[in-house]
Amino acid sequence: MNERFDALRAALAARPRAKLGFFPTPLYRLDRLSRELGVELYVKRDDFSGMSLFGGNKIRKLEFLLGDAVAKGCDTVFTYGATQSNHAMQTVTACRRLGLTPILYLNAYVQPDEQDIRSNMLLDRIMGAELHVVESLPGETEAQTEARCRELGRVHAVALQGQGHRCYDVPMGGASPVGSTGFIGGYLEFAQQCEELGLKPDYVYTATGTGGTLAGLVAGHRLLGGQEDIVAIAVSPKDTGYEARCAELGNQALALLGEGGRLSAADFTVDRDYYAPGYEQPNEAATKAIRLLARTEGLLVDPVYTGKAFAGLLDHVRTGKIPQGSKVVFWHTGGATALFAEKEILGELTQAD
Ligand SMILES: Cc1ncc(COP(=O)(O)O)c(C=O)c1O
Repeated sequence: MNERFDALRAALAARPRAKLGFFPTPLYRLDRLSRELGVELYVKRDDFSGMSLFGGNKIRKLEFLLGDAVAKGCDTVFTYGATQSNHAMQTVTACRRLGLTPILYLNAYVQPDEQDIRSNMLLDRIMGAELHVVESLPGETEAQTEARCRELGRVHAVALQGQGHRCYDVPMGGASPVGSTGFIGGYLEFAQQCEELGLKPDYVYTATGTGGTLAGLVAGHRLLGGQEDIVAIAVSPKDTGYEARCAELGNQALALLGEGGRLSAADFTVDRDYYAPGYEQPNEAATKAIRLLARTEGLLVDPVYTGKAFAGLLDHVRTGKIPQGSKVVFWHTGGATALFAEKEILGELTQAD
C-alpha cells in the first residue's frame, strides 16, 4: 500500500497548488453515538479544513483550483452558487489569502433580506467580495438561472480582460477535474489515517451536491483499492445521468494525475431519498439528525448538506442497510454557518426532543 500512497502523493505534488488548509483533518470515533446506534461511528472533520474558522470541503478543491489560477498569473476569480453558498464564501477566504480579487454571481434561491444579511453572505460582505445577486426571472428554472449567472460572469470577465486583468473561472461548487483532484488527495489522507489507526471501515457516508467531492473520493478509493462502500446522500434533485457525470469528472481528475479512466456510473452510490422538499429547504429528519448529533456529541452539522446526509446515515442504520456492528465514517463536509442563516433555511432546531 505504501508504494501506491507514495506514487499518488508524487502525482499530486506535481500539480500547481496553493497552501490553504490545515491537513490532515481529524478522524475520530463518536463513542456515545456509536453506543446508541449499535455501530462504530467515526467522523472525518473536513469542516476543520480551515483556512478560516468556517472551513469545509471546498478548501481541498480550492488548493488546486487557485493554485492553477496563481500559476496562470490570474488576479481575479469568478465563482457561482446560491446566495448562502459555502463554496462561494470559502472561495472568498482563499482569494483574500492569496491576494486575488473575488467576484461572485449568486442566485437567490432564498431572497436575502438586505436589512439583515446573515451567514455566508455576511462573511462575503465582511471580506469585501464583489457580490452580484441574480434573481430568477418568472418561469425560469433553477438550472436556467444558474446558466444566466455563468453567462453574466463570462461577459464581466471579458470586460475585465479588456482592461488588462487575468480572470479565472471556478465553476459552481468547484466541480471540475482540477477541483476533484483535491478529493483524490483527501481520500489518500483518509486511507493513510485509517492505516495508522488500524481502522478498516465498512462504509463512508457523505453529502453530494455538484458531485466534485464524491467524484474525487471515489476516484481515490479506486486508485488505492479501498474496500469500504462510499455512499452519497443527495442534497438536491439529481437526474439519472448524475452518476455518469460524476464518473466522467472522476476520470478527468484521474487523467490529470496520469491515470487512465477507470470509473463508470456503476461505481457511484447516490441515495436521493433525503433532500425533500428541496435544496436549502429543511426537513424533519435532518432537523432531528442535527439535534441528535449536537445533543449526544456536541458536534454541529447543517440543515442544507450535512444534516440531510447524516439523516440518511441514521435511516440506513435503523433500516439495517448498515448492519449492526459496522464501522461507518461520516465525512463531515462543513456548512455549519447555515445554522446562522435565514429561518426558512434553518428548521426547528431548538425544540426539546
Ligand atoms: C457543507 C457542504 N457539504 C457538501 C457539499 C457538496 O459538495 P459537492 O458540491 O462537491 O458535491 C457542499 C457543496 O457546496 C457543501 O457546502
